[in-house]
Amino acid sequence: MLRLSQPLLSVVVPTYNERDNVAPLLERLTKALDGVDYEVVFVDDNSPDGTAKVIEDAAKVNPRVRLLLRTSRKGLATAILDGVGASRGKYVVVMDADLQHPPEVVAEMVRAAEGSGADIVVASRYAKGGRTRGWSPLRRLISWGATVISRLLVPESRRTSDPMSGFFLIRRDRVSLEGASPTGYKALLEILYRNPQAKVVEVPYTFMPRERGKSKLGTKVILEYLWHVIKISRPVRFALVGGVGTGVNEGVAALVLYLLGNYTAAFVGGIEVSILSNFALNDLWTFRDRRSGRWYSRLLRYHVMVAPAGLTIFFVAELLAKMFHVYALLALFIGILAGFVANYTLSSRNVWRFS
Ligand code: GDD
Ligand code: MN
Repeated sequence: MLRLSQPLLSVVVPTYNERDNVAPLLERLTKALDGVDYEVVFVDDNSPDGTAKVIEDAAKVNPRVRLLLRTSRKGLATAILDGVGASRGKYVVVMDADLQHPPEVVAEMVRAAEGSGADIVVASRYAKGGRTRGWSPLRRLISWGATVISRLLVPESRRTSDPMSGFFLIRRDRVSLEGASPTGYKALLEILYRNPQAKVVEVPYTFMPRERGKSKLGTKVILEYLWHVIKISRPVRFALVGGVGTGVNEGVAALVLYLLGNYTAAFVGGIEVSILSNFALNDLWTFRDRRSGRWYSRLLRYHVMVAPAGLTIFFVAELLAKMFHVYALLALFIGILAGFVANYTLSSRNVWRFS
């Protein structure tokens, strides 16, 4: 199909064994998008059930339909990335083929984007007015757990109530997919992480039960998700650096004590060297994509931020131990957790802030 003009909307639909869903999906999209200039890009991984053939047949009679056929199963995340890459619309909506994402919501998402100037529109099951139908308690629990984990570990995902959603819109000229991870199921999470500045709005919707074909979400997908979250989690990287820093602190203190025999020099030296090594690791790794200004200005600001974090540890531990009679080492541990939160929050706001 040759089209020279850019459509307003590209709908990217990854498919794997969705033979019987293609026709009903297209039928409902056609109705819902009446009057909109759009294309539908299917990304099929050579499904054994012959989905590609069904799409090719549909494309013969419907010029809006395109097929990106990949030779073997390469996974949902890369299907989405490849589909977005092959599409041309100003807006791209990514949706499942199985009608669990009602095609009628697509029109609402485009309207929301046009009306609000948002860069990302998330169709959300957890926004007010949204819901899921026909879910087992186990599936509910998995979804809830995955959402909580992403909120805790990937702060960038807190801009939506449903970071696990597979149903979302992006504005192609404002949202970058560069460097996005090719593993995993959660393309939206990755997009939120890579585009911390993008403006996000939500449209509530009802996630419908699947009527034809089977879900591909299994244990492997869940484990991949957890690994993915850890990989893109700044707080996890920050905590690992903090762990290394504790070792550096102790090591330097021991060395100074051995060489000079002076406690004060050992404490001060250990703390200062660990601040320097923490700064270096966070600057080169944890926040490497958020460096702005001069390095020594960041280093200075990092030094300033360490003091309140240190005080937090001290006061929380003191308070718990003295007023609430919490066992001393436990009180210290909770104090360190609180200090970690303070240090992370202050550092990400004041040292490696968005430029
Ligand atoms: N090309 C391609 N390759 N498509 C795939 C692959 C793959 O390896 N795996 C799955 N798909 C397609 C399916 O054919 C379907 O259109 C869509 O991706 C979603 O797959 P499902 O198997 O239906 O996933 P789900 O319903 O369990 O999960 C959906 O809902 C979750 C919310 O709970 C997805 O949208 C998830 O992204 C979402 O988090
Ligand atoms: Mn599904």
